[in-house]
Amino acid sequence: MASRCRQRAGSRVRPLRTAILISGRGSNMMALVDSARAPGFPAKIVVVISNRPDAAGLDFARVNGIEAVTLDHKAFPSRETFEKALDEILRARNIDLVACAGFMRVMTPWLTSRWRGRMINIHPSVLPAYKGLHTHERVLADGAKTHGCTVHYVTAELDDGEIIAQVEVPVLPGDTADSLAARVLVEEHRLYPGALAKAARAQAKMS
Ligand code: GRF
Repeated sequence: MASRCRQRAGSRVRPLRTAILISGRGSNMMALVDSARAPGFPAKIVVVISNRPDAAGLDFARVNGIEAVTLDHKAFPSRETFEKALDEILRARNIDLVACAGFMRVMTPWLTSRWRGRMINIHPSVLPAYKGLHTHERVLADGAKTHGCTVHYVTAELDDGEIIAQVEVPVLPGDTADSLAARVLVEEHRLYPGALAKAARAQAKMS
């Protein structure tokens, strides 16, 4: 693991070595990669890892000069062996911080405790409301007036860790799950880079 020493006042903060975990489209990953290029951004994206070989986001990473790794969960006999391999990939690259971005694998307490305080996730709801899957459909079925997204630390309990940032969006008359998801996704792309920066700065302060 890369050393995470307290930065001296006035010294330039070393960008934290960051991995992004994806399973598909990867639009949040793209937003993070684009934002992390800005001078002074406190996180450097060094690897994108997908548990699905066909994830569209892998090509974007390669084209942008970022290592893209496929770790097909179906090639492993158990969740535990998959997670051990994932953990080894992260540690071999001295990763400080892990950003899950549409990574559709439930994690065991073994992995979440190993990366506690150093793994974050984006979820399409205003947590603690609507944990789990199909949030847009459930919001519409409930007739809720607002929806949104949240970036939070990952813990053993699904979509439950400390909230880093969140934003609300209105549910509009005539919304479908797709139109609502699209409105939320625009906000996800705005929210996640700032939340990653906040988590990276918080971690850099820890000794
Ligand atoms: C996003 O809505 C994210 O919040 C959810 O899955 C979706 C992933 O989209 N967990 P993308 O792969 O980042 O485009």
